[in-house]
Amino acid sequence: MNQEPVQGLTHTFYRYPARFSPIFANAMIQAFTKPGDLVIDPFMGGGTTLVESAAMGRSAIGTDINSLAVFVAKVKTTPLTNDEIQSIKDWTKAVPDKLNLHRPPIRATEWIEQGYQKNLTGRRLWPIRKTLEFILYEIDTLTSQNARDFLKCTLLRTAQWALDCRSIIPSAKEFRYQFFVFIKEMLDGIIAYSKAVESQCQYNNVTPKIHCLQKSVHDLKNAVEIKEHDAPALILTSPPYPGVHVLYNRWQIQGRKETPVPYWIIGSADSKSESYYSLGSRKQPGLIRYYEELLSAFKSLAAISSSNTILVQMVAFSNPDWQMEKYLACLNEAGFEEIFFPYMAISSDNRLWRVIPNRKWYAAQHANIKSNQEVVLFHRLAR
Ligand SMILES: C[S@@+](CC[C@H](N)C(=O)[O-])C[C@H]1O[C@@H](n2cnc3c(N)ncnc32)[C@H](O)[C@@H]1O
Repeated sequence: MNQEPVQGLTHTFYRYPARFSPIFANAMIQAFTKPGDLVIDPFMGGGTTLVESAAMGRSAIGTDINSLAVFVAKVKTTPLTNDEIQSIKDWTKAVPDKLNLHRPPIRATEWIEQGYQKNLTGRRLWPIRKTLEFILYEIDTLTSQNARDFLKCTLLRTAQWALDCRSIIPSAKEFRYQFFVFIKEMLDGIIAYSKAVESQCQYNNVTPKIHCLQKSVHDLKNAVEIKEHDAPALILTSPPYPGVHVLYNRWQIQGRKETPVPYWIIGSADSKSESYYSLGSRKQPGLIRYYEELLSAFKSLAAISSSNTILVQMVAFSNPDWQMEKYLACLNEAGFEEIFFPYMAISSDNRLWRVIPNRKWYAAQHANIKSNQEVVLFHRLAR
């Protein structure tokens, strides 16, 4: 499986934790669907599945309970009009003069009171904080919501680049420079995405519809967007991994100090803990809650599937020896059976495993080498 970094279209807009490769998503969509089909990603994260689906002329519905995921996925799949692009370019020319740090501050008082600037203090960090406040204020002067969200996503990306897991914080000047570089690059990305979708409309005569919903997988079957479609040809997803620590809702500043800053930037409150986004606590013995949630999620997916739907998942385990068997048992209990594609397999268990590139999360050191690998599982409704 390809291990190249995420690139192309709108994929670079945000480094969503544990995102999968667009090349993997593309290959699965190519293999199991045709233009006009519906693809679903119930744990969509940053929306990799949705971007690739739209660019290949497939409609897609994604759900996630994290408003950060929904925001990013929406921006990545929302084409901008020529007027919106022009308004962003004009804004880009006018705004640098307004970012001078000697100007009086524009404090985000409500957000500060609720703790959204936590750990964004100190000698190196206040210039970044003040720059963020200035830019957010200027973004709000734009009339188009899509243009505002696009620029907020650019700011989000720049702030993630500057703050998250970085030992040396850049200066305000470096931050501003990078912000304008990202605007240009991301405009190219959204234009490439729009062209890919347009060419699907022209050559395949399909108009892909994309929905990014802030919903739990458990509520998927009641979504009106689902009822408007035939059953999905493909469910392509990557649920939170059992026992694995991934921080979906915080950045880590200077020595792992957590901050909810991304939610202030996108303007969405978030008071949830890490376990809320991970199907339960990774520390609970036996991961009882995790597997209950997982079973309920798979039952929900079974309810929206037809006999032709293929469910493809990328998953990893902190301790595969017992966790994988339980994972597969949940799928069976929910009504799915595993299917194998021996020509794709690279392991004696007839499955497709790969070593996780640039792994940032902790997995127990274990005799079984597969604790640092992820596997692709294929299922369909049991016949
Ligand atoms: C591994 S990430 C998905 C990454 C995605 N494949 C990508 O390429 O960006 C798992 C996601 O599941 C979401 N999630 C957790 N519980 C959920 C639930 N009950 N319903 C929907 N999404 C949920 C988390 O917020 C997280 O964004």
